[in-house]
Amino acid sequence: MVALQKVSMDLPIIDLDVFRTQARDSAEVQAECAKAANALISYGALVLHDSRVVEQENETFLDLLEDYFAQPADELRKDERPDFSYQIGVTLENTEKPKCAVDEPCLDVIRRLAPSERPLDITAHSPDPKCRFFWRMGKDAPYETQFPSLNAGNVTPEAPHIKERWAPAMDQWGTSMQNAVEGLTQMTAVGLGLPVDTFKDAGKYGPHLLAPTASDLVKYGEKDTILAGFHTDLNFLTIHGRSRYPGLHIWARNTGKRIAVKIPPGNYLLVQAGKQLEHITGGLIKAGFHEVVVNDKTVEVIDDRRARLPDRPLVRISSTFFWHLSSDHDLEPLPALAEQARAIRAQQFNLGKDEGEEKTYPPMKVGELVQDELKHIALMA
Ligand SMILES: [Fe+2]
Repeated sequence: MVALQKVSMDLPIIDLDVFRTQARDSAEVQAECAKAANALISYGALVLHDSRVVEQENETFLDLLEDYFAQPADELRKDERPDFSYQIGVTLENTEKPKCAVDEPCLDVIRRLAPSERPLDITAHSPDPKCRFFWRMGKDAPYETQFPSLNAGNVTPEAPHIKERWAPAMDQWGTSMQNAVEGLTQMTAVGLGLPVDTFKDAGKYGPHLLAPTASDLVKYGEKDTILAGFHTDLNFLTIHGRSRYPGLHIWARNTGKRIAVKIPPGNYLLVQAGKQLEHITGGLIKAGFHEVVVNDKTVEVIDDRRARLPDRPLVRISSTFFWHLSSDHDLEPLPALAEQARAIRAQQFNLGKDEGEEKTYPPMKVGELVQDELKHIALMA
C-alpha cells in the first residue's frame, strides 16, 4: 500500500544511473524506482540525475535560443503556424492564456492555499508574456493517426546566423532530455508495480516536443511579473534543464507550500507530472501546479548578467521538453492505480487535508485530452 510521504521543501533526487547500470531485480533498483513513484505521488515533481546529460549541450542550446528570440518580431513571425494550433514552430508573446484564470477547479486550488503561499494573481486574465518554440522530437506512427495536426513537420528558422546551428543543437539537447525522461517513465512504471515499458510503449509515437520558452527580461524583468501563470501541463511528464534565471515555483501536492525550484549544476534535470499521467493513474499522481515569475533571485541574476555579459540578449530561456503518450492511445485509469488513488484521497481527508472535489477520468484518446486543453489555453479555435 502506498502512502504519501512527509514532504520537505527539497525535492527528492532520483538517480537514473542506478536504474540504467544495475540489475533490474536488484534491491537498489527496486528501491530507487519506488522512490521515483513516491516522489511523483507526493510532490508531482522530482530532480533526476542522469550522468549521460552534458551540461555544455544545455549551454549551447540556451545560447542558440537567446540569439533566436533576440530577433525582431517580424522575423520570428515567419515561424508561426496558427493552422497547426501553434503545436510546431514559434508562439509569440501574449498568445497563450493560463487556463487557471478562467477554470473553476483550478481557482479552487488557489483558494485552498494559505494567502502567503498563493501564486501571483492571474485573475486579470491577460495572456502570458512568453514566447515559445516547439520542435518536434516524436516519430511518425506506422499507422494512420486520428490527430494529424498534432504530428506536423518541424520548422527551421531562416536567419543565416541561426539556421545552420538550429537542428543539431535542438536534436542533441532534445535527445538527451528524451532519453532521461523515457528512463524515468520506466522507473515510475516499476515503482508503481507495472511492467517496465507500460508508459514508454504507450508513448512510442507521442508528439514529444522540445519546447523552450523565452521571456524578454528587458520588457518583463520587473519583480513580480508573471512570465507563465499558475497552471499544470497537459502532457505526460515535463522535463527541464537548468535555466540561467531562477523563477520557477512549484506546489507539492500535500504541502500547500510554494517551492522555489533549485536544480543543482551538472547532470540534473527537473521533472514534473502532467495531466496524461494524472489521467492514466486515476489521480494517484496529480499533475503538478507551477508558475514562472520574476522573483528576487531572478532580479539578482538579471543584474549580474547585465553587468558581466552586456552584449548577450537579456532573455530567460526555459529548457523544457514535453513527453507525451501517443495521440491515438486509449487513455483510461489503470484499475490498480485508481484504487490506490482513492485510498490516498481518503487518507488525506482523514488527515484533515481536503483535496477538493473528486475528479473523474473518463476514457478518451490522448489526442482528445490534448485538443480539449489547447482550447482552454486559447491556442486552438
Ligand atoms: Fe508548464
